[in-house]
Amino acid sequence: MDAYIVDAVRTPRARAKPGKGALSGLHPQELMAQTLKQLPLRTGIDVAEVDDVVVGVVSQIEAQGANLARNAVLAAGWPIGIPGFSLNRFCGSGLQSLSLAAMGVASGAQHLVIAGGVEQMSRYGLNADGGGTDGGNVDLRERFFQVPQGISSDLIATLEGFTRQELDAWGLRSQQHAVLAQKEGRFARSLFPVKNPHTGEVLLAADDSPRADTTAEKLAALAPSFVQLGARVEGPGGETLDALALRAYPRAGAVRHLHTAGTASGIADGAGAVLVASREYLRAHGLKARARVRSVAAVGSDPVLMLTGPALAARKALDAAGLTTRDIDLWEINEAFAAVVLQTARALELDLDRVNVNGGAIALGHPLGATGSILVGTALDELERRGQSLALVTLCTSGGQAVAAVLERH
Ligand SMILES: CC(C)(COP(=O)(O)OP(=O)(O)OC[C@H]1O[C@@H](n2cnc3c(N)ncnc32)[C@H](O)[C@@H]1OP(=O)(O)O)[C@@H](O)C(=O)NCCC(=O)NCCS
Repeated sequence: MDAYIVDAVRTPRARAKPGKGALSGLHPQELMAQTLKQLPLRTGIDVAEVDDVVVGVVSQIEAQGANLARNAVLAAGWPIGIPGFSLNRFCGSGLQSLSLAAMGVASGAQHLVIAGGVEQMSRYGLNADGGGTDGGNVDLRERFFQVPQGISSDLIATLEGFTRQELDAWGLRSQQHAVLAQKEGRFARSLFPVKNPHTGEVLLAADDSPRADTTAEKLAALAPSFVQLGARVEGPGGETLDALALRAYPRAGAVRHLHTAGTASGIADGAGAVLVASREYLRAHGLKARARVRSVAAVGSDPVLMLTGPALAARKALDAAGLTTRDIDLWEINEAFAAVVLQTARALELDLDRVNVNGGAIALGHPLGATGSILVGTALDELERRGQSLALVTLCTSGGQAVAAVLERH
């Protein structure tokens, strides 16, 4: 593809509980607006030339409704001529916005597009839009009963034969790598401190989710998170959610509930934005790109297992770029759950030393709509730090889908 990333910026991710967290007092439009405003400051672009602002946000209700993207443009104080729209591909939304921006400039239809994402989970937690996994369509449910993602993650772990120890080991690794990355300032290039817009007080300057005191023993002592959910009766014939998962995958025998708060992505608030430009725009403005978007891909996969799409999306993106898994220096596989990363890595036969080298959402949090945008900056910063060339970013999503993008340092 002929599409270029000029810069990527993000807020710190704030640990979020209902109504609580360092960023919970801000309006989500303001969170996004502060992120947008960093891009002209850092790159010197004239924002009046922005063709569109695409923002991924999953729970598009109330404060996150009303086309958050356009309202964030206005909240940023930018010219009224700049359009914006919000999109929802669940957890893949932030990377989907990059895909659209890259397609827009590669097609020649646009020259300068901002691709972002935001989610304020302290206000709107999982399934806050009330749609559940299937919008309550009982006819569809007879064909696919889309169990919640926690059950899917445990079903994947069961089918893959992952042990609790293996999942915990990944949870520990995520924490250790994230803590080291923070200590060494590896996230510094993308991060900016979020401020109270009225007082100027810094609300958060660094991701506050990592737990440096995590040990294998502490992780082993955590109770599995989805036992009760699995026992909840939701089927039309009085079946539990576990039974409904097994109806699709009888060979699993039983759903082994293995994921805990230490091996699942954390609930968080945050935003990210990526500035995408065409080759003509770069040339006309004497701008240097940080990376080229080599390819993008989206796939559908089994909606009950739900979270096994990343390997398929990665293959599709690699094929489109004419690359193989071995060409990729760094992988960012969103840590929705430990089993997702391990299943993807196994399916693609990846060298784990190249995967999530600075930790992932288990340690750092996963503000649903924002994470895809955030991971683009994380990957670019690390490619630059290591002097490497190619990164692949991929995220699984609800509904059994996944998105991926191959980025090449310029
Ligand atoms: C798994 C989940 C239900 C856990 O929720 P929770 O119990 O509220 O989790 P918390 O992170 O608050 O952790 C609870 C406790 O576990 C313990 N804990 C969590 N992580 C720990 C770690 N790494 N080491 C030691 N203890 C840990 C702590 O005691 C913590 O309590 P504290 O914060 O008061 O210290 C929730 O994080 C979740 O739903 N995650 C998945 C999100 C998701 O599905 N996203 C979409 C992906 S498809």
